[in-house]
Amino acid sequence: MAVPDNTPPKGEPAREAPPLHVAIVMDGNGRWAKRRGLPRTLGHRAGVEALKRIVEAAPGMNIRWLTVFGFSTENWSRPAAEVAELMALPKRYFESDLARLEREGVRVRVIGSREGLSRDLVKICGEAETRTAANERFYLNIAFNYGGKADIVAAARRFAEEVAAGRATPADLDETRFAGLLATGESPPPDFIVRPSGEQRLSNFMLWEAAYAELIFQDVLWPDYSAADLKAAIAEFQTRNRRYGTVVPDDALAAG
Ligand code: FPP
Repeated sequence: MAVPDNTPPKGEPAREAPPLHVAIVMDGNGRWAKRRGLPRTLGHRAGVEALKRIVEAAPGMNIRWLTVFGFSTENWSRPAAEVAELMALPKRYFESDLARLEREGVRVRVIGSREGLSRDLVKICGEAETRTAANERFYLNIAFNYGGKADIVAAARRFAEEVAAGRATPADLDETRFAGLLATGESPPPDFIVRPSGEQRLSNFMLWEAAYAELIFQDVLWPDYSAADLKAAIAEFQTRNRRYGTVVPDDALAAG
């Protein structure tokens, strides 16, 4: 499937701003809880409430795709009780919000490996995807048991399987085809990736897709994250000069 393109046509000024794909590393739940003398569990639950707020606010801010990092392939190394709590979050979220997401035109995808997830959780995620499959107003990708490196390996394996089955040759592989094999294959690349909580790294999130994403770091813990913070991130993004490896016309004249 072709990857939708949300960049303005080359050489033409955008008439109206194209819709955005925003990706968020939802970080800081643990610190939020610790500052309040609460168990980390309650930080994660407050994180679900923040996710609800942002999913509700995003469509009104010209955002059409939202990809959030809910559980990384590395998070399995946390204490068992915390892993169990994190595993319970999609159920908590969908129980309270799936009907609304379905009604409001949100297409949900849970991206990442299903390996290691309980049967119950796999079923819940599958149900969220099926019930919202026809929606097109807004796209919500929840990265769960997701790792950027693992996703790249899985895409490479999928292509190798196509070659082995005689459906493709190695020469057929290019960046567009490869991008389509990633878990995010049906979304355009993110325009910007936000990481709240003051940490400044990607932590294995959307490694391929981040190639030309702007990175925005904000000093707020995820459970406190509000629509105003998202608005501020968009304002920051709009100050960035995206060149995609080329030069802006004025600089090219100066160089010539
Ligand atoms: C990182 O904060 C956050 C996580 C590992 C979990 C993120 C999950 C949510 C915000 C809820 C997601 C909801 C769904 C539906 C999956 P941290 O615990 O590492 O915080 P710390 O760095 O302050 O310790």
